[in-house]
Amino acid sequence: MEQTPDRKRVQEFARKLFGHYTSGMLTMMVDIGHKTGLFEALATAPDTSQRIADRAGLDERYVREWLGAMVTGGIVQYDPGSETFALPPEHAVCLTGTSSRNLGANSQVLSMLARRLPRVVECFRNGGGVPYSEFRPDFTEYQDASWRLLYDGLLIKGFLPLAKGLPERLAAGIRVADLGCGTGHAINLMARDYPASTFIGYDIASDAIEHGRAEARSMGLTNARFEKVDVARLPAQPKFDLITSFDAIHDQRDPASMLRAAAVALAPGGVYFAVEPRASSRLEENVANPFAPYLYGMSVLHCMTVSLAEGGAGLGTAWGEATARKFLTDAGFTSIDVVDAPGPQNSVYICRR
Ligand SMILES: C[S@@+](CC[C@H](N)C(=O)[O-])C[C@H]1O[C@@H](n2cnc3c(N)ncnc32)[C@H](O)[C@@H]1O
Repeated sequence: MEQTPDRKRVQEFARKLFGHYTSGMLTMMVDIGHKTGLFEALATAPDTSQRIADRAGLDERYVREWLGAMVTGGIVQYDPGSETFALPPEHAVCLTGTSSRNLGANSQVLSMLARRLPRVVECFRNGGGVPYSEFRPDFTEYQDASWRLLYDGLLIKGFLPLAKGLPERLAAGIRVADLGCGTGHAINLMARDYPASTFIGYDIASDAIEHGRAEARSMGLTNARFEKVDVARLPAQPKFDLITSFDAIHDQRDPASMLRAAAVALAPGGVYFAVEPRASSRLEENVANPFAPYLYGMSVLHCMTVSLAEGGAGLGTAWGEATARKFLTDAGFTSIDVVDAPGPQNSVYICRR
């Protein structure tokens, strides 16, 4: 027998649904604030919409409407008496400056993904996927912007020390490869801080690799280089003492071959250090994770579809620890330690053969 929907619960759900739409809208408003320098202008001092607009060199009418969204969204405070707007210092930490706690750049994820939404809808109907090439060049830009400050603030002091003895080995001089290096900022930072070690970044994306090379040149690095390589076909030689991958397994066409190749390319005593989204492989265990809808959405709109576009495994962003452990074990790693990365989103897999 058909159940009659409970009116109160319908209302509650409708409210919740509109809350989700509102969060999406606010994300795009944050994106605009980040791109136009409005958060920096606000952080300077509480002010009227006109003076904030002037400070940022923007049109006041647009800024005032944007401030409406910011105030009602709980991001900016408004004093009706003086008609001034203020960014609380705690919010400024998350939206301005160069610390890894500035999340402003991450907001561009929505507009970047939304541009491919019609193509993904086609895939729901016909199968297949949207290839990486259709996400360039703005995916490269987004990925760089959303990880750059994290690497700046936490790679050397937060991530690498999670593998016992690794900073000391890097300081003494070892051979390092980063698989799916993107724009190569991680490689370049490590090369700068560990001049006795040599570094190579591999990626299939020419635009990303070029970015990495240009940055290495501008930093005057002689121990960092980049090559366009399909990491599923990484050769057994040369050997590396450290292989890293940052957010670069789950969207591979052939992650099993990539991991086997990484295991084979490790020198005796070598370490594979992989950063992947923190999730369970079981849907029911992700229900309490507030970031899980983000991971599954990111997967549908990018990570899974780029893999499926090539007839790949389509593991998805929330492939999770159990599946990752199975892939790593099948690849030949016998010791796999999983630790929390700094911040709530990622886990680090520290693997040895
Ligand atoms: C999510 S991005 C991560 C990039 C980078 N590690 C970072 O932290 O910004 C994944 C990267 O893997 C690269 N990639 C995907 N499949 C690849 C393959 N078969 N061989 C080499 N790189 C690949 C993509 O081009 C992309 O740059």
